[in-house]
Amino acid sequence: MTFNPLKEKGMPLEKQLRNWHQIVGNPYKKQLVDCYTRTRQILMNGIEVEAWGFKHQFNRFMANLDFEDRANISRLGRIENQQQMTCNWLSPANQSVLETTLGYEQVAVDLTAWLAQNEPDKYVKETFDFGLLEDFDHLYRYAQFAYMTEGVEPNDIVKGQTDVIVGRPTQHHHNCNGLRLRKHYDKTTASPQTKINILTVLSGEQQTHNFYAEHGFMYGDHVLRETYAEIKDVEEEHVTMYESLIDPSETMFEKALLHEFTEVCNYYTCLEDEVDDDIKKYWEIFLEIELGHLQIIAEIFKKYEKRDPEEVIGSEIIIPCRFNSQKAYVQKILEKEVQKRLAPEGKYYNSMDDIPKDWASYPVQKRVAEISAPSENCISIAEIYHDRDIVEASESLKNKETDLLKKGLQKVAVADNTVCPDKLQKMIDNHEKRKQQKELKI
Ligand SMILES: [Fe+2]
Ligand SMILES: [Fe+2]
Ligand SMILES: [Fe+2]
Ligand SMILES: [Fe+2]
Repeated sequence: MTFNPLKEKGMPLEKQLRNWHQIVGNPYKKQLVDCYTRTRQILMNGIEVEAWGFKHQFNRFMANLDFEDRANISRLGRIENQQQMTCNWLSPANQSVLETTLGYEQVAVDLTAWLAQNEPDKYVKETFDFGLLEDFDHLYRYAQFAYMTEGVEPNDIVKGQTDVIVGRPTQHHHNCNGLRLRKHYDKTTASPQTKINILTVLSGEQQTHNFYAEHGFMYGDHVLRETYAEIKDVEEEHVTMYESLIDPSETMFEKALLHEFTEVCNYYTCLEDEVDDDIKKYWEIFLEIELGHLQIIAEIFKKYEKRDPEEVIGSEIIIPCRFNSQKAYVQKILEKEVQKRLAPEGKYYNSMDDIPKDWASYPVQKRVAEISAPSENCISIAEIYHDRDIVEASESLKNKETDLLKKGLQKVAVADNTVCPDKLQKMIDNHEKRKQQKELKI
């Protein structure tokens, strides 16, 4: 039997307020936690931040609401706020900013890869694939710093489930905002799955941006601080890109419905997949809470729009965040699309060999990297002690790294401090030589 969220009562609003002990739970142990428990926790924090912020926007923008409806929206916002605290504060105090950062980028890679393969709209799928390769490169850049700054190996966090190797180089992620704007779906024909997929990844990207904004300054290493600034700016582009896929003619009531439905679907998936019993109990309670929210918003929707909520969200649950290893899919997209760029309006995507000389992103890239690209420095920093970059991937993918870099680097627009393919290959060869020397000595 399929699960129709609109037919579920959920937890009544008057039972949803929790006490401080319930709000602030026990954090997981960073050494023991399943990496996908961490990604669920990170994602659900982002979903709650969006759900909370939206309620405030709703009440700020909506005139002509009955008082009791406005009060209910406000009550729901408070519950979202409590849920957000619970989700975010499951992070342990001894998990460093860089470790958490690797978790954020693992969310972005494995979530976007899942969504791309479960997205009915081909154009939206292409956009997911495009964003995927950028977050994949962020993971690689941060992994260099995690190792060099804190001695954290990538697999301490990603547990061998996500590859860590160069993607589309971060210095090429900076675009003219106009080019980042995508073609939006048509709300009357787009499937609920497309709408939920977009809102899910958008919430994740927005929270990634916020996390870097609030934590990137917490290191003394200036190159790392600049790298956080650079990647935060890309996350801002990702927010722009994903939100532009949404039909701007959606009403606030439709949006309210989609927000609650997104929460329901994500908690439903978390509950199905969770392996940590302590954390699973939160997903169970929060699914009940969200089903209660959906009931309230569905009634408001019917009252003001005089339509059936099923017209917007359908009658079936959607699975928007099934976390599992996506290495094969990511590698396929990496090898096929690392050279892809944002094309001027009308074409949307292009190979970098086909973009015009007056491409609107060139001046942006030139300006931000006019002294250097911080995201390039991380490789040179790793080289000082490790002879080469920090990489976690199969031998066959590792052997393709220099070729991937060759394919992904846009020669006409590289920063002065770029680690070019020849230099990377030299590092790799040098690393092999040193390894053999060390073995001989031992
Ligand atoms: Fe919520
Ligand atoms: Fe990212
Ligand atoms: Fe991102
Ligand atoms: Fe909610």
